Amino acid sequence: MNNFTFCTPTRYVFGHGAEEKAAELAAAAGWKKIMIVYGGQSAIRSGLLDRVKKSLDAAGISHVSLGGIRPNPTDDKVYEGITLGRDENIDAMLAVGGGSVIDTAKAIAGGIPYAGDFWDFYCGKATVNEALPLGVILTIPAAGSEGSGNSVITRLDGLRKLSLRTDTALRPKFACLNPELTFTLPPYQTASGIADMMVHIMERYFSPTEQVEVTDRLCEGLLKAIIEEAPKVMSDPQNYDARANIMWSGTLAHNGICGCGRQEDWASHFIEHELSALYDVTHGAGLAVITPAWMTYVTTILPAKVAQFARRVFDVTESDDTKAATEGIARLRSFFHSIGLPITMKELGIENPDITRLVTKLHENKGPQIGGYLPLDAKATEAIFRLAAE
Ligand code: NZQ
Ligand code: ZN
Repeated sequence: MNNFTFCTPTRYVFGHGAEEKAAELAAAAGWKKIMIVYGGQSAIRSGLLDRVKKSLDAAGISHVSLGGIRPNPTDDKVYEGITLGRDENIDAMLAVGGGSVIDTAKAIAGGIPYAGDFWDFYCGKATVNEALPLGVILTIPAAGSEGSGNSVITRLDGLRKLSLRTDTALRPKFACLNPELTFTLPPYQTASGIADMMVHIMERYFSPTEQVEVTDRLCEGLLKAIIEEAPKVMSDPQNYDARANIMWSGTLAHNGICGCGRQEDWASHFIEHELSALYDVTHGAGLAVITPAWMTYVTTILPAKVAQFARRVFDVTESDDTKAATEGIARLRSFFHSIGLPITMKELGIENPDITRLVTKLHENKGPQIGGYLPLDAKATEAIFRLAAE
């Protein structure tokens, strides 16, 4: 096991009525004027936004709003938010939504006190040393941004989708998680969120680091629980306990606990980010296509961990590693299909992928090699895009 430090300072408030605690937590933190960030229509339609504003009013906290954050969020809204936040002299952020909303709020939180262009953080020119504090009311379990220090934004100029990783600077101070708020999710979003959280676990699971049995077992246990709960939320969207199990899995998948003491992979995410940047597909659905293709490629060179995944997560009994891995990948694909996800680019709605452009952008953005378990060059990533297109 490698050396590590693990700090996850977010206070999680979980369960019925959790969102009602947000104003109380903001007041206790001394926040006076906050910016509420939200997405398209869902938080308005459900009445959540109104309820949040009323509870802030009751707590004596003034607020301004920035709505209209779209999935695969873009830099234009970040600039708008930075200007609004400076003009209004806000002292904290409250994200009401999913990964896209939270990531935009994080970018604004880091951008407001920074004298330069916030994009410097995403392309590695600057480090976030100071940021406004952020609270979250989560409405979709998927990206895990409520517990991560990360933010992913697409720059419209050139469609560059880049992720920023911070240790604690951008981790939310609190996250309110009420599974009932997820009852209204469309099935495709529920399923895409499930794929995303599974792959967050797998990016950590597929590691060259040996003797990491505790985190291996954490990963496998979470994956098994998700696979068991997923059909329940798909067939009965108002099943509170199934929604609750899925919601908490989404947070544990990405708050760092599964990655302690081990090198992580992240190739599937980097590859998928090019798909969602260029074709604006739902990130989790893109991963349902890319990750099994990545596993198929990896199995031809380094099958051992894929075989372990197959045996321990999907109960494959085959003793030969390559055969076990291949069977595990087939079972993963059939699981994704069973919850309504695509497993090929065509099913994802991309008829003629521009693989040359995808590969070029990927390596321009991420360097000549990606991936911790098996380092991949442009030839390898092209092969993976081709496997995903089949
Ligand atoms: O915009 P509204 O109307 O709110 O609709 C949203 C959106 O269309 C809808 N939705 C959310 N909660 C709902 C709801 N609809 C009905 N009822 C509810 N309760 O769901 C759609 C998707 O929302 P989005 O925020 O985009 O989803 P998600 O949480 O999957 O976030 C995806 C983004 O996060 C990034 C992805 O790349 C993508 O840009 N990621 C961020 C990470 C991080 N910060 O750590 C890690 C991830 O790997 C990921 O890359
Ligand atoms: Zn993800």
